[in-house]
Amino acid sequence: MPPHNTTVPPGPVSRFFGFPLLGQMRRDYLGTARHMHSHYGDAVHARIGPEHTFEFFRPDWVREVLVEQARNFIRWERGTAVFAKVHGQSVLVTEGDTWQRQRRMLQPGFGPKRMAGYAQRMVAAAAQALDALPPQPTQTLNFEHMVTQLTMDVVLRTLFSQQISDSNRAEALAAEQAVQVISRAGMEEFFWPFSLPDWMPHKWSVRSAKHMLDGLVRRHIRQRRQATGSEQSDLLAMLMAVRDDSDDSGDGGALSDEEVRDQCMTIFLAGHETTAAALTWWGYTMAAHPDFAQRAQDEVDQILGQRPPRYEDLPQLPYLAQTLKETMRLYPPAPSLISRRALRPVQIGPWQLPQGALVRVTPWVLQHDARWFPEPERFDPERFSSAGQAAQERGSYLPFGAGPRVCIGNLFATTEMTLIAAMVLQRFRLAPGSAAPPQPVLNVTLRPTGGMPLQLTRRQNLA
Ligand code: HEM
Repeated sequence: MPPHNTTVPPGPVSRFFGFPLLGQMRRDYLGTARHMHSHYGDAVHARIGPEHTFEFFRPDWVREVLVEQARNFIRWERGTAVFAKVHGQSVLVTEGDTWQRQRRMLQPGFGPKRMAGYAQRMVAAAAQALDALPPQPTQTLNFEHMVTQLTMDVVLRTLFSQQISDSNRAEALAAEQAVQVISRAGMEEFFWPFSLPDWMPHKWSVRSAKHMLDGLVRRHIRQRRQATGSEQSDLLAMLMAVRDDSDDSGDGGALSDEEVRDQCMTIFLAGHETTAAALTWWGYTMAAHPDFAQRAQDEVDQILGQRPPRYEDLPQLPYLAQTLKETMRLYPPAPSLISRRALRPVQIGPWQLPQGALVRVTPWVLQHDARWFPEPERFDPERFSSAGQAAQERGSYLPFGAGPRVCIGNLFATTEMTLIAAMVLQRFRLAPGSAAPPQPVLNVTLRPTGGMPLQLTRRQNLA
């Protein structure tokens, strides 16, 4: 590692305004980040166009950016501008007082008190999806597609008290495709210095994908406003009822119609995409590591037997939770793109960052670093036993981010994933569906190229 004898970290020499580097990032962001780390060390500086960019790979420096000095940073505005085209001005996008107000208003909807109610809806969705699979003793299916539809169904049930059924299945499939189109387009845009307007002819697919999702969300909100006398206990009801006591703007502190629409869009998208990615990779790690899967299955059998899980059961399924945490270490659903803009000159470790510096954090690299996770490519749920977790370097494991902008849906996602994982293991044994290991590709979330074929064998057919 280079000596810390300057205040600016080492990094690649900027040629042609840094555009070749930007091109490299666009082709393979995670590979480029890994290369930068192995080549230049724990802090890397690069010039890209007019930007001074910094990447930190040491957990304590990462925590300084995201946690200890969070007030000195905002989200990278180019990233939020790309998200804003779909999410509007939701809690994912806003900054300052607006963000604080929205976060304060949304937080109770994602707290432990509401989880038991959501858990019942999550379990109902999972039972319906798993019981609808063909009755054959053994089948090979695209697990990614199955869990994406399932997590979308969960978000429809918890957000709108609606569900996927025969009458709207085509719409759910169209929504899955629309999300893919938008994610791909978003990835492209992140690595261009500017966005081309959506009316450009070649962007018709992005335009129609956004239109489709916008129509879906607005229709649900409209239906709710028209429905009188039906009390729902879902997230939409919470968004409509919530008041900010400190607000004296004259509207009683309620979220405006457009704000409700924007939060719904973020909950719909952020609420199913990432969870689906995590469950996809969990299916694979269970299929590829039958011994660990067996141990998780034994735990599920012992605690639940054949009965459906409840929220209260989750503390009794610690090993199952460990398999999910270890999966998110090896395959973080949001592996990169945690980026910040320095509002003023700041010092991170020994490094001086000028005002306006752009900082990137890449959980993918931190979570595959042998210093924090020995033999990092080995799948080992023991890393997340109580003892293993206590020994972990703070800031080395960041699937949900850290600091004030940590994922608001952390508990929701953890609850959902554990319930679904338990129900899969109650019914099936998993095996890889193809000889070649899946290749991860960054599409905002981390997805396998070509889906995730897995072989599911019904347990009652096993000796
Ligand atoms: C395995 C599942 C999930 C993962 C890995 C994940 C990951 C993340 C990460 C890394 C961030 C922070 C980004 C940053 O610091 O710039 C984030 C923020 C966020 N997530 Fe999640 N997320 C998950 C599930 C969910 C769910 C289920 C919801 C909602 C139902 C959700 C809603 C949000 C929102 C609204 C934010 C922005 C929070 C803010 O800026 O104040 N996420 N998520």
